[in-house]
Amino acid sequence: MLLQALEAVTGTMPADLRYAVMSSHFGGQALSKLGQLQTPGIVYLSGRALLNFDPRWYNEIEAITRAEEHLLTKTRADLEPAAKNNQVTIAIDTTQQNRVVGCIVLWELERDRQGVLWYELGTFVVAPDHRYKARGPKAMPIGDALYRLLLHQHRNKNIIGTTTNIHAIHTGLRHGMQMVSYHDLPPDIHTATCICPFSKTGAEDNAHCTIKNLKCRVRVSYPTWVRMGQPTRLSFPS
Ligand SMILES: CC(C)(COP(=O)(O)OP(=O)(O)OC[C@H]1O[C@@H](n2cnc3c(N)ncnc32)[C@H](O)[C@@H]1OP(=O)(O)O)[C@@H](O)C(=O)NCCC(=O)NCCS
Repeated sequence: MLLQALEAVTGTMPADLRYAVMSSHFGGQALSKLGQLQTPGIVYLSGRALLNFDPRWYNEIEAITRAEEHLLTKTRADLEPAAKNNQVTIAIDTTQQNRVVGCIVLWELERDRQGVLWYELGTFVVAPDHRYKARGPKAMPIGDALYRLLLHQHRNKNIIGTTTNIHAIHTGLRHGMQMVSYHDLPPDIHTATCICPFSKTGAEDNAHCTIKNLKCRVRVSYPTWVRMGQPTRLSFPS
């Protein structure tokens, strides 16, 4: 009840105050808890709990990611080091023999010129039959809960998220991600994230990518945006 009240109160705050509360230690903790309460039967695993879980989850994530056009396929070789670094969170459905129904990962990206390591939020996926829109009156915000947990746990890290998927953009908006221009990223981070193939970018040199800041958007977490010096925000596509 108290948690719902917090959500209601933050919903009425001016945007920047709301983002600051959401990304604070206690605000983030409370909203993460709320996300778990709103998804009964779903358990979120990361850190030691994930490493101790049945390793079949690696194959399940591989199959889920292989089926998605917006995602790179991720195998155990990719996932295990990230899981050991506590950068992977999965959602399992305890009412369906602990089937994996969602995932979010913080991938190490590059260091900027000050030596600060930046991370890219990725492998964000909810199994098609568990997506919010797919469940009608039984809708559960599993994607939101994964997002909240990850942003809360890693609020002291510099995090970017790039995507061409409008649903992922909307999820980010609900959690205070700030849409900036690719050109506002530190140069090394910009170069490190723009590694899409010609078939996607229409350019041999990704400095001239034809979808950058248009169909393809970069967002940064609110604390990252503050640390960047609050660059101009671009409007979100609807
Ligand atoms: C991105 C993804 C994880 C979001 O899953 P989800 O949170 O369950 O949401 P859905 O995909 O069902 O969203 C569809 C609609 O449901 C509604 N919805 C979702 N969450 C909601 C919430 N918490 N409250 C109210 N409505 C919500 C919205 O109308 C949403 O449409 P919108 O995004 O245009 O606003 C999911 O679409 C997915 O796995 N996509 C494939 C993988 C992918 O592309 N990942 C992103 C790569 S960066």
